[in-house]
Amino acid sequence: MNKDLNKLNSHNSDEISSIGNDSLGDTDKGPKNSEYEDASVRVTPWDVEGQIDYDRLIKEFGTQSIDSDILEQFKKITGEVHPLLKLHYFFSHRDLDFILHKVEGGEKIYLYTGRGPSGMVHMGHLMPWMFTKYLQDKFGSKLLFQLTDDEKFLYSQDRTREEIKRFTYENILDIISIGFDPSNTKIIVDTVHIKHLYPIALEIAKRITFSTSKAVFGFSGSTNIGMIGFPPIQAAPCFLPSIIEGRPTPVLIPAAIDQDPYWRITRDVAEKMGFYKPAQIHSKFLPSLNATGGKMSSSKPETAVFTTDEPEVIEKKVCSAYTGGQATVALQRLYGGNALGCPVFWYLRYFFDDQKESDERFVKCISGNLLCGECKSDLARESKSFIAALKMRREKAKDRIQKYMYENEPFEF
Ligand code: TYM
Repeated sequence: MNKDLNKLNSHNSDEISSIGNDSLGDTDKGPKNSEYEDASVRVTPWDVEGQIDYDRLIKEFGTQSIDSDILEQFKKITGEVHPLLKLHYFFSHRDLDFILHKVEGGEKIYLYTGRGPSGMVHMGHLMPWMFTKYLQDKFGSKLLFQLTDDEKFLYSQDRTREEIKRFTYENILDIISIGFDPSNTKIIVDTVHIKHLYPIALEIAKRITFSTSKAVFGFSGSTNIGMIGFPPIQAAPCFLPSIIEGRPTPVLIPAAIDQDPYWRITRDVAEKMGFYKPAQIHSKFLPSLNATGGKMSSSKPETAVFTTDEPEVIEKKVCSAYTGGQATVALQRLYGGNALGCPVFWYLRYFFDDQKESDERFVKCISGNLLCGECKSDLARESKSFIAALKMRREKAKDRIQKYMYENEPFEF
């Protein structure tokens, strides 16, 4: 049993500490798109499918594991190690040690994160944002929050500008409801604030060839040219802080690892443009509720709990979730469940259980002393109560949008 618990809590960062040869550019370190997209596993900014081996992703993306030295550095600054770091939900990084040294030395850093408003927000999206708020509170940092409404319009052949605008509005309510400090947080909506991004994006675009971009993002002859031209727009907020502050300013991006291709091309041009390379802290994905692999996705509503779901919808989604359970109660009692392959278990572990509760849940599950119905009932109850509280904050956010907009430029809805 102890061996199983060790497996659950294992963290093999030390084995892979040799990765990350800085003499290579980041695009050279990362995979060519076709190399990691085998038939069953796919991790791109627009699509995540299959059973992801996160250690393999670290190697293939050329990032670094969050090891005990990084956790020590965090502890020195914050006096603690955040549960999502302890659980290795945030598992990978680029230049996080550099950022933490800067914070320790009292230097100003910026945080930068974002959302592509292709639908309503689900609980997976909230994870990097809640962690970003934690960092903002601990470091006292300014935050740029980008909404790539242009990206999501271009990506989907079916979405109209009006639909994307409605999702942008709804998503802004979720972002504000996280509780970011309004005096230190600015929301950038690409189609509203493009004049602040475009001059930087032009400088970036000029330095990236089509063949690099094809290799990193998997663009092909059938990709529309809007998508091909888009990446510098997501890269631009990495350098905006340096322009605001009038000197090179370090930036840390908390996000799931699907966004990494954007940062690879950005890091390649940063120093040539006189800026620091943007640093990243990468998370895993909150898994799809109805499958063994893949992530929660707003384009597949049955895979996720949304911030606007009614309690009965949450109940229904959780009750019909895939689990790691056996086919019958008798078999479950006899053989135990497969907690490691169970989205309900991971969802509870990352979102609601504390580590001790979760470790106990794990042991009870694999030894046949816990039935799936109990875990589902815990998850449904916790999710309903979490979403009810968030909905109240969303309501209040309606009057506060203007306060958060970059340069106070209005988002009219
Ligand atoms: P988007 O809208 O796909 O995702 C928003 C954020 O949520 C993360 N994410 C998840 N995290 C955990 N579990 C999941 N199932 C899950 N699904 C998505 C994403 O990694 C992201 O952090 N192009 C971007 C928008 C963007 C952005 C940024 C994101 C613009 N600038 C800077 C991060 C940082 C997008 O479409 O994200």
